[in-house]
Amino acid sequence: MVVKKLTLQNFRNYERETFAFAEELNVLFGKNAQGKTNCAEAVFYLCTGASLRIRHDRQLIRRGAECARIGAEVSTRYGALSLEAVIFENKRELFVNGNRVRRALDFLGNMNSVFFSPGELRLILDGPDERRRFLNLSISQTSREYAAALLRYQRILEQRNGLLKERDLSLIGETLPVWDEQLARYAAGIAVRRREYLKELSRLAQEAHAYLTDGAEELSLLPDREYRGDEEGIARALFGELAASRERDLRLGYTTVGPHRDDVKVLIDGADARGYCSQGQARTAALSMKLAEVEIFRSLSGESPVLILDDVMSELDLPRRKKLLDRVGGLQCILTCTHAERVLYGAACNKIRIQGGKIVGGGA
Ligand SMILES: Nc1ncnc2c1ncn2[C@@H]1O[C@H](COP(=O)(O)OP(=O)(O)OP(=O)(O)O)[C@@H](O)[C@H]1O
Ligand SMILES: [Mg+2]
Repeated sequence: MVVKKLTLQNFRNYERETFAFAEELNVLFGKNAQGKTNCAEAVFYLCTGASLRIRHDRQLIRRGAECARIGAEVSTRYGALSLEAVIFENKRELFVNGNRVRRALDFLGNMNSVFFSPGELRLILDGPDERRRFLNLSISQTSREYAAALLRYQRILEQRNGLLKERDLSLIGETLPVWDEQLARYAAGIAVRRREYLKELSRLAQEAHAYLTDGAEELSLLPDREYRGDEEGIARALFGELAASRERDLRLGYTTVGPHRDDVKVLIDGADARGYCSQGQARTAALSMKLAEVEIFRSLSGESPVLILDDVMSELDLPRRKKLLDRVGGLQCILTCTHAERVLYGAACNKIRIQGGKIVGGGA
């Protein structure tokens, strides 16, 4: 799929601007703090209904303005698609092809993107939260069923944790098994989908990593806990585990088992990347995971996602930059950088120079 046109109104530092994107490589360039990442963030927002960087949408509204508006015209294999988000201080309105959608879930995944920025190092070096967030967002973009199950799971989990904190033992004895049953059911659905996804992701990331390192390193992604059997069986086993951990959970005041605690192990040449890999290795591993994500979107929806590369070229060594550019040929790519000429090696592209929240021309 291709974003043809992106319109920003009172979004971050943009007052009003329209971007016309080319089908392949688009390069947003300009000095620091001009609005390159803001533009990339807007595209991502239309894909997921969520910002990359923040929790509160209100930060997306240009200071002093009442609401922000992001609109895009997208071409997909099923035809033209228009997406729009209007963001107010305390609410937002989402539109698909001009029709208001009530549930954020129905907005999610109409357009798919893969976002890569230097911050993605966290995916490798940080704790489990980052990897779970990656998995959840990535799977949700192609499966609303997964996104819905995740939402329900999180709600029940909050209820269960609330109950654990109250420490009302008679209430707990009565209602906890009811919550546990539901929790186990949604957890099993999530676990099965993640298991399938991770298997595919691991295979593709391994392949991408071998490509980027000329076969010098081997990357593997493994679940830190294995769920065996079918969904029913997993639900039963998890129900048992929840029951068994009740006492401990009560003591701690939160739920200690389930997919909200699971992690993905990232191994480079068989060793845990978190403990020992270099910055460059971590960057390459994260990039491999993102390139794998591109392939998964492609094979699941028959359509290429929009690849957003925010400020990553300067961090990669020369051969890797070239390899990356070769690899993303054929995809629509929105790349940001401070100096277009230093990263492109004359590759054909649509250059857009940004200054103070405005497009001030193309050229280098
Ligand atoms: N809600 C907002 N209202 C007004 N300005 C904002 C808002 N949010 C962010 N900005 C401003 O937008 C500017 C540009 O941010 P952005 O992250 O897009 O820069 P960039 O061009 O990617 O720079 P860099 O090269 O440093 O990454 C920042 O100076 C920031 O202060
Ligand atoms: Mg930036």
